[in-house]
Amino acid sequence: MEYILQDYENINKLGYNKGAKMKIKGVIMVIIVLMFFNCEKNDTKKLVSISQSKNNKKVNLMPIPKEVHLLKEKHYINEDFKLSVEGKTGKMVYVNSTRFLRRLSGRTGLFFDQDFITTESKCDSAELKIISDELGEVKLNADESYFLEISENEIFLKANKENGIIYGLETLLQLLKSDQNGYYFQTCKIKDKPRFPWRGLMIDVCRHFYPVNVIKRNIDAMLAVKMNVLHLHLSEDQGFRIESKVFPKLHEKGSDGLYFTQSQIKEIIEYARVRGIRVIPEFDMPSHTTSWFVGYPELSSKDTVYSVERTWGIQDPAMNPVSEYTYQFLDKFIAEMVKLFPDEYFHIGGDENNGNHWKENENVQKYMKENDIKDKHELQTKFNQKILKILTKYNKKMVGWDEILQPQMPNNIVIQSWRGKKEMIKAAKKGYNTILSNGYYIDLFWNTQRHYLNDPVMKNANLNPEVEKNILGGEVTSWAEFTTSENVDTRIWPRTAAIAERFWSPRYIKDIDDMYRRLEVINFHLEEIGLTHIKNREMGIRRLANGQDVNPLRNLINVVEPIENYTRHHTRGEKKRYLQQSPLTRVVDFSYSDASVARKIRRATDEYIENYSSTKVEKSSLYFTNNPKEYLVNELNKLSVNNKKLAPIIGNSSILKEIKPLSKSISKVANIGLEAIDKLESNKTISKGKVEKYLKIINDSKEPIAELENRIIPAVEKLVITVSLK
Ligand code: ACM
Repeated sequence: MEYILQDYENINKLGYNKGAKMKIKGVIMVIIVLMFFNCEKNDTKKLVSISQSKNNKKVNLMPIPKEVHLLKEKHYINEDFKLSVEGKTGKMVYVNSTRFLRRLSGRTGLFFDQDFITTESKCDSAELKIISDELGEVKLNADESYFLEISENEIFLKANKENGIIYGLETLLQLLKSDQNGYYFQTCKIKDKPRFPWRGLMIDVCRHFYPVNVIKRNIDAMLAVKMNVLHLHLSEDQGFRIESKVFPKLHEKGSDGLYFTQSQIKEIIEYARVRGIRVIPEFDMPSHTTSWFVGYPELSSKDTVYSVERTWGIQDPAMNPVSEYTYQFLDKFIAEMVKLFPDEYFHIGGDENNGNHWKENENVQKYMKENDIKDKHELQTKFNQKILKILTKYNKKMVGWDEILQPQMPNNIVIQSWRGKKEMIKAAKKGYNTILSNGYYIDLFWNTQRHYLNDPVMKNANLNPEVEKNILGGEVTSWAEFTTSENVDTRIWPRTAAIAERFWSPRYIKDIDDMYRRLEVINFHLEEIGLTHIKNREMGIRRLANGQDVNPLRNLINVVEPIENYTRHHTRGEKKRYLQQSPLTRVVDFSYSDASVARKIRRATDEYIENYSSTKVEKSSLYFTNNPKEYLVNELNKLSVNNKKLAPIIGNSSILKEIKPLSKSISKVANIGLEAIDKLESNKTISKGKVEKYLKIINDSKEPIAELENRIIPAVEKLVITVSLK
């Protein structure tokens, strides 16, 4: 049955070939895959191939399982729906099968009889039979595989461990569809397991703090897309975010009262454990440590008075690496923390030590001379070696940012690569376990596609399988300079769902159109588990519109994106730079780094330009229910008149004043786009002078306004250039 898998690969490749796409227009993308053990002959006959499928046969799975074999029938559900659990099952299965029932019931409006699933939930008549051979385990390389078979009358979910069961339940929920006869699951057989064992999300709770409920809803979302590591960045220059009973001045003086108590941390860890998610604490050292020194200045390299840092960027303070007190303190502190965090791994940060306070400290300099230590890297390695000894004593393995990769460090530590992939490959070749974060920095405001195509194993790295195994997976990093509890979900989701697919699914799953199509569906389902990524954006828009019509502002937000990379740090000049307490409630804070309407306008433009001369191509291959031109003209018309509607709203809401020129420019650019389409349609040209004038307007509009970029510009620029070439 290998050829079915290949079909899928070919379809993916077609995703990059627009000409070919046009030829298969009308054909519904996606599907399918493979056969696996005990697939009977008559099943094979029922295989639905992509070209045979009619409407509504797409799978909306994310991440795409390793092997999917779609069948033709539908398994309808009604109020008699019941599940049973068998084998070795515990809290992981009980909690998540109960959650499954509530979500299924919530989505369908069906009233089920079953309440809470417990050991007693044996039910011979159940149509969903769950069988787990062993209890779950939450550790690296746990068995997370599962087998799901949906036939017309029965659903069978089996796994070696509970971990697989909870993933199978998420897959099942993603398979739910409806038609005029009700809700149904597409019949299929799925055999699934992850590509990488380490599929993480790092949340920085220091630059801005989030309460427990924010963490919990993100844990639920992580499970929904089969992620299994929550890395909590717990200490920083700007905040120390966990209670220490041994050194209470850490959280008392270093957190502004915003920290997790130990009982809250235990609650988070248990909540995550039940969802198959490991929690790894990070205590960043020797640098990024100002908040420690507010209560314990004797830990620092410079004798001064410290206060919690309010600015962003790399700071000078660092722990004193030549004082015994530092190591005695850290030994006691780590002893306290390892009792809280059961995971085998412990993150010590290690990034961005500028060495300035080490240079200023006479004792440090003297120690370096006496011990023939040539630079800050060597000194930091001495520090890391001592910390490693402490961690080893407490049976923990060290994880650190890639700065900790130094020749003197043993290779039983894990390197988290953030500065580049080359370093990661180098480390993997030297036998270090590595995880990739470079390319998964979602605080850089990149679009989803850019993250999605970033594979932890570069194809051209030519690694032998032994070395490749050292690459454990990756972690999305959510740094918190520009996020609050209000907008953090919007920053993390849904982009992280696409990255989660990169960590789970086979590497050849990389069709961008299909990813965006599935992401729209998953995005919407993520709300059901409590994420606020959609509704808080709407709330932001409502607040900004100040009781007036929200639609014109929403239209604008749908085509603009926050400026990329870390440029927001430098946009407001030294006097007005962002501080920890600065407002994050402006238009830019409720805008999304992948403005969907702008993306579709760009896509429609590409399809239109490719086909405008052909009267035959009326429908786009994928995206647009109407033809791409119709979509394009509709959207540009909307934007063309948007400024007229938005200007009075801006007039009555001072917080919006900064987007006044942006609104104007969007309408102007939209008008140019409409004129270009008009010329193309009537087969007329534009004078050279006019083209130059338009291109100048477009160029001027590229300048960000209010930290936002107008993302329809590339589309309109293409339209003008196309007319000018006629
Ligand atoms: C980092 O982004 N400084 C690890």
